[in-house]
Amino acid sequence: MDNVLVAEQIDRTYRIGKTSLNVLNKVSLNVAAGEMLAIMGQSGSGKSTLLHVLGGLDRPKSGTVSFRGQNVYSMPARKLAQFRAENVGYVFQSFHLLPELDIVENVALPAMSIQPAREAKIRARELLEEVGLGERIGHRPQELSGGEQQRVAIARALINEPDIIFADEPTGNLDSTTGEKVLNYLFQLLGTRRHTLVLVTHSQEVASRCSRELFLKDGVLVQ
Ligand SMILES: Nc1ncnc2c1ncn2[C@@H]1O[C@H](COP(=O)(O)OP(=O)(O)O)[C@@H](O)[C@H]1O
Ligand SMILES: [Mg+2]
Repeated sequence: MDNVLVAEQIDRTYRIGKTSLNVLNKVSLNVAAGEMLAIMGQSGSGKSTLLHVLGGLDRPKSGTVSFRGQNVYSMPARKLAQFRAENVGYVFQSFHLLPELDIVENVALPAMSIQPAREAKIRARELLEEVGLGERIGHRPQELSGGEQQRVAIARALINEPDIIFADEPTGNLDSTTGEKVLNYLFQLLGTRRHTLVLVTHSQEVASRCSRELFLKDGVLVQ
């Protein structure tokens, strides 16, 4: 099978004073191209930790993460940052938009180091239209509702046409109706572009929109 992402034997431990918390225990998984994988688990089970490790944001204590055959954590820091910008999109629970930039600038930002600003902004406007925010161009994030801000974050995650999108509780801060609408946009955009998705959630309803579900429990992944 054509795997985008392969994680093998991931261990991640947090050290708190003299004690250490073993959050991920020899976790292995494969993510196939075009797949939409949901990772579920209770609060505190290590979902965010796993997503950060898989997404090249947090080096595990041991184990490897390979992206299309390339060992992510063997790259020097600068190369890894560039690699993330070009290949990976992130959507976080709390949107993480920059308040001093308007929404076009927010969406265009990850593309600025890759293409001319003018082109990046044209692409950003197109994506904002696609998430139903064509009328809000020129606004700043704080002038938008939570659901609208998350749609901006989705557009930003897609600006560089990444191979894989990581979403951490993307509707966790939204009411269910708004969350549903945000997910509709997310799945519509991913479906037409054949992006791969790894989505973390504690909601069975959200997970059931994905093509596969895994559960994280006591540091171990189960079907
Ligand atoms: N930076 C950190 N330092 C120490 N402990 C942490 C840190 N981040 C997370 N943890 C702990 O690791 C466990 C898993 O956290 P997390 O991955 O955020 O879980 P989830 O996303 O499933 O709620 C929790 O017990 C949490 O308190
Ligand atoms: Mg979390």
